[in-house]
Amino acid sequence: MKNKLYFKLKNKKVQEEVFESICKEQNEIGYYSLPEQDISPILDYTKTISEEITQIAVIGIGGSSLGAKAVYEFIKPIKALQRELYFFESTDPINIINLLSQLDLKKTHFLVISKSGTTVETFSIYKYIYSINQNAQAYTFITDPNSPLEAYANEINASVLYLPDNVGGRFSVLSTVGLIPLALSGIDIQSLLDGALTLKKSFFEAGYMKDTLLKKAVFYARHHGQYRINCIFAYSETLKYFCEWYVQLWGESLGKKQRHSAFNVGLTPIGLIGPKDQHSFLQLIMEGTRNKSVTFIKIENFKEDIVIPDISLKHLESLDTLNHLPFSKLINMQCDSVTEALLEEDIPLDTISIEEVNEENMGALMFYYELLTSLVGELIDVNTYDQPGVEAGKIILKKKLEKEEQMKS
Ligand code: PA5
Repeated sequence: MKNKLYFKLKNKKVQEEVFESICKEQNEIGYYSLPEQDISPILDYTKTISEEITQIAVIGIGGSSLGAKAVYEFIKPIKALQRELYFFESTDPINIINLLSQLDLKKTHFLVISKSGTTVETFSIYKYIYSINQNAQAYTFITDPNSPLEAYANEINASVLYLPDNVGGRFSVLSTVGLIPLALSGIDIQSLLDGALTLKKSFFEAGYMKDTLLKKAVFYARHHGQYRINCIFAYSETLKYFCEWYVQLWGESLGKKQRHSAFNVGLTPIGLIGPKDQHSFLQLIMEGTRNKSVTFIKIENFKEDIVIPDISLKHLESLDTLNHLPFSKLINMQCDSVTEALLEEDIPLDTISIEEVNEENMGALMFYYELLTSLVGELIDVNTYDQPGVEAGKIILKKKLEKEEQMKS
């Protein structure tokens, strides 16, 4: 993975200070050590799931689903996988009915994933599915040790697996939360971790990522008053769900009250897919308010390729320049052209090139964004790992549900 920054920053002192803070943070925050974990317990667990199971349904939301979905949707188009994954993330009844209609319950294993073990969306869906299939062997629960969900799983005699309690939901993709569904689908989770480890070493052991990530984080933090919207512009459909994962990671980690002031701060994530969004959001970046930075992500080698045929269309001869062009070349030329156009407008940007679509590169990309989030959180003085802002709505819903309950009796 290569990352080229097109903005300059000189302040070495701030960079060294934040690097030290992040090094210290490694002792408390669990996600930093996930790339080095021994995956044999996960592989042993996968052997307990019968080969007759061909569908895995994840019931979970936010950090409990988005990471696995991002990796799965990245790899699925290029690799024949052992099992299909389905994600039940919404209380939208149409979505639940539709997903269920795609499942053969005899061939499905359900992974109920919730760190807290009490999330409304997850457990309303679980209750519905459990009312249809009460075979406890069809479920595995993944949660924090000692959560109410662990007690429930033991109660019904179902399998239960844990994630370390110092690993937060949105930083949990490389823990059991992401690795169990991915391993069951046949994705190479060791390569995913290897990619993350390479990136981690490059950062912590003074490789090229140290300087790059520190510069980028300091730029975002320094200019967060002006460039408060951070767009990822990814030139591959395979990165669509990676963008969703990024939006959650960035938004829920960085939109906060500052720890040492009364101010609310935040950086707003936007996930865009090229070339589609050239015909949509790009205009706003080019000519709209100058409050956006852009990170272009492109795939260097698509491997599977097709070529635009040598056909001349009457009255459309101006499009003959497309003839003979591989689609992989076209999409990357489009990415480069938009990059150049934005540079001419002085929009702050950087480019990330991924050599090819594989597990290792996704592991590196995810760990890169986790580190970047931690660095920026530290620099803008917020607690990156909590999410008090989502509680208020949950409390109101709880009251509404209690009121409904009273009206029933
Ligand atoms: O990142 C987070 O902490 C959240 O987005 C959670 O992942 C999300 O709210 C789901 O929570 P839980 O895993 O407790 O069901």
